[in-house]
Amino acid sequence: MSLTIIILAAGKGSRMKSSKAKVMHKLAGKPLLQHVIDAAQYIAPEVLTVVVGSGSEQVAPLLADNGIEAVLQTQQLGTGHAVKQAKASFANTDHTIVLYGDVPLITSQTLQKLVAGADKQSMTILTTFLDNPQGYGRIVRDLDDKVSRIVEQKDADEIIQQIKEVNTGILLLPSHWLSHAIEKLDNNNAQGEYYLTDLVARAVADKLTINTVTATAPVEVAGVNDRQQLAQLERYYQQQQAEQLMQQGVTLYDPHRLDIRGELTIANDVIIDINVIFEGQVTIEAGVSIGPNCVIKDSHIGQNTVIEANSVLEECKIGQAVQIGPFARVRPGTVMQEGSKAGNFVELKNATIGNSSKINHLSYIGDTTMGEHVNIGAGTITCNYDGANKNRTEIHDNVFVGSGSQLVAPITIAPGATIGAGTTVRKSGATSADSLTVTNSKTKIIKNWQR
Ligand code: UD1
Ligand code: CA
Repeated sequence: MSLTIIILAAGKGSRMKSSKAKVMHKLAGKPLLQHVIDAAQYIAPEVLTVVVGSGSEQVAPLLADNGIEAVLQTQQLGTGHAVKQAKASFANTDHTIVLYGDVPLITSQTLQKLVAGADKQSMTILTTFLDNPQGYGRIVRDLDDKVSRIVEQKDADEIIQQIKEVNTGILLLPSHWLSHAIEKLDNNNAQGEYYLTDLVARAVADKLTINTVTATAPVEVAGVNDRQQLAQLERYYQQQQAEQLMQQGVTLYDPHRLDIRGELTIANDVIIDINVIFEGQVTIEAGVSIGPNCVIKDSHIGQNTVIEANSVLEECKIGQAVQIGPFARVRPGTVMQEGSKAGNFVELKNATIGNSSKINHLSYIGDTTMGEHVNIGAGTITCNYDGANKNRTEIHDNVFVGSGSQLVAPITIAPGATIGAGTTVRKSGATSADSLTVTNSKTKIIKNWQR
């Protein structure tokens, strides 16, 4: 069986009250439309098309990234009209599935269920049951319980409004039949739109069987129309991810206070305190402990490492049994090797910190290669920027840098060298193994000083 998937994403989304196209709003850090594309691509359709309209220029880069061709619907004349614009995409396949760009949590499992029941003589509608069906198209069944038509909210009388089984909008149709039927839709209804849902009554007339598949969780087929709904789906999605982590053997002090915006790969016996955010691709090895309010983006964290409260890590590679924070900032390009430490108010950028080296307090180490067993005193700064260029600092094994020192790059500190507190080191040559470098300024004490 060959399959076309059409994603409708031309609507304006005026209830979002946004200058951004609705389908570009993010859920778990990823545009709504990307969620739908990912679910669609997972079942590998022969053709995948997105119908764009309002805000199409904002959607174009995302479609280009996915290698998907867009079909433009210049005027939003209804869901039936939107599908008609994509007619070329289902000319040569057996079946067509219609999805919505603003229904982001649709799963590939549900799409597989639709596909499983597909045959050329039937249409399958994904429905769900809602306690409050207000606003949705209602599934009308005849006395044999067979679906006879869908009636839109605005066209529904009081009896039909009582029906709780609703159209999710997602359906599977035989492509060949669709090619003809789509031409025959009219817009004689309360909204003056070409309704895709009118195809149901037509299919009944054409003796097609109408099947329904029921979505297990209504939230899976919930649309995002306003920011409240977006927030509800975000919370649901995060809750699902938290459940999964706990099943894998991760301790979450509060599953309601964790956000994963990307892909998190995590081993067991990891402990995560509250309000931690993971972004992009993060991998965490076993036994890691992460304190409250940490943000970790595109990083790898090695076994048994401890990250204390309020630390921010981005694009870094952290080895085993490393200690970070509280209040540390580890910026892109940083590698921390086994047993090293970056304590409070330490900023690292594009730096390699060797085994067991320690930067405990209030320091900036940037564009630096540091060996093993180095100790950096509080308030030490690598002066990596001379106003024009970034320069590197090299600190060899067993160096001791006293508090409040500045290392003016480019500079190399020889193995075993000692830098006295408060020293501004400008010359590499001055340091050698077992040397002590100090700034030559005497402390003056003025007596009888009036404050
Ligand atoms: C539609 C269904 C309704 C269903 C509901 C589920 C129709 C006629 N009605 O109603 O039965 O219960 O979805 O959420 O299909 N779109 C376009 N071009 C258009 C119009 C819409 O691309 O000209 C896209 C929108 O961007 C959106 C989707 O189609 O992604 C649904 O459109 P919307 O106007 O929200 O449909 P509903 O009135 O909610
Ligand atoms: Ca509408």
